[in-house]
Amino acid sequence: MTSEEVRKLFLSFFEKKGHTIISSSSLIPTDPSVLLTTAGMQQLKPYFTGDKDPMTNFGSHRITSVQKCFRTTDIDEVGDERHLTFFEMLGNFSFGPVGSDNPKDIGTEGYFKKSSIDFAYELMTKELGLKIDWVSVFQGEKSVPLDTESIALWKEKGFTDKNIQQCDRADNFWGPTGDSGPCGPTTEIYVDGIEVWNIVFNQYFQDEKGNLMPLKLPGVDTGMGFERLMKVIQKTETVFETDLFEPLRSRVLDAAKNIPENHLRIILDHVRGSVCMIADGIYPSNLERGYILRRILRRLSLKLKQNNVQLKYVPDFIGAVSEKFSPHYEQLKNTQRVNQIFFAEVEKFDATLGKGLRQFEKSVSQSDTGEQLGQKLFQLYTTFGLPLEISRDIAQERGMPIDSRAKETFDALFQEHQKISKQPSQKA
Ligand code: SER
Repeated sequence: MTSEEVRKLFLSFFEKKGHTIISSSSLIPTDPSVLLTTAGMQQLKPYFTGDKDPMTNFGSHRITSVQKCFRTTDIDEVGDERHLTFFEMLGNFSFGPVGSDNPKDIGTEGYFKKSSIDFAYELMTKELGLKIDWVSVFQGEKSVPLDTESIALWKEKGFTDKNIQQCDRADNFWGPTGDSGPCGPTTEIYVDGIEVWNIVFNQYFQDEKGNLMPLKLPGVDTGMGFERLMKVIQKTETVFETDLFEPLRSRVLDAAKNIPENHLRIILDHVRGSVCMIADGIYPSNLERGYILRRILRRLSLKLKQNNVQLKYVPDFIGAVSEKFSPHYEQLKNTQRVNQIFFAEVEKFDATLGKGLRQFEKSVSQSDTGEQLGQKLFQLYTTFGLPLEISRDIAQERGMPIDSRAKETFDALFQEHQKISKQPSQKA
């Protein structure tokens, strides 16, 4: 199955079960306590809390979507086999009141654990023909009990204690996003050793102090990473070989024939992420989400330069993202503005990189102590504008990880530099 077929199948499966299909919201969230949209439920927080009425706005208590997401937690890990910053998340959502909680009921009432698990099981096994290896449930703690209801529901489907794992808060309790919001225990579905679907039972509201209070009406928030799902459907080695990365992958490979796999993955991830961020109205800057964009564009520039990919290929890469995503995301139809902002930032940094990389080769040596390395990276930063995250990346590739001494030295010099540059200039 192609990703296009799966995208349609997912949405129409839930539509047939009474869900209203809604568009992805922007990567710029409405919730001011988070910098970027990290989950499908983010635009739906007021419906879980009862502050907005789903019947008025969607004509149903059931919603389904494919949401653009960006997560910074794994930004330094991108390049390995599975980490991504930008990804799409397939989701179905329910806001109380709970109806019969029976999947045969395809009405517009809310549902809870039974229907969520039945829907997920039916979609995975019958519609997609996948075998679920095992599932996990919340083991319970303090005021939140062990999720015996989910265990019983999975057992009805033939799962046993061997393939129902009980996990702690780190694995099986989700949310809230930002300072406060809906959250709750989860049940997760694993296929081919990968967690593909996270089903959250939003039973609580967590306030800014971390106190849990029961939500007036329980809700369901599910999220399935599209890239991971396609990996198990298309049986590829990594997510980067799924058709979700085409035609971008082919275009990058045309421009950089012998590129190392980890560099290719960084380019694929960062091109998709930065194009979608700019299309949603984010500008590269030194602040907040603008800085996240700047950071991925800089790392992308480094990988392009290290692989002798000329900047003339950049519009082709942007075009490939638009080709793939514009049927689903209106903002990616016209990429003229994206091209301008993307290209200007990459071109400006490319010049800095040229000088910085040459100087790096001249000054940094394998025999440097941590302190010497910290001093040299600081000099590369102040004199050549080479940011630490970039020189750290280069040093690591050369087998010189930045140890704590190097980092401490860099930080101390940086703080000193900040103090000096903040002092008022002396009058003559
Ligand atoms: N909010 C949950 C997640 O992001 C499920 O959608 O994993």
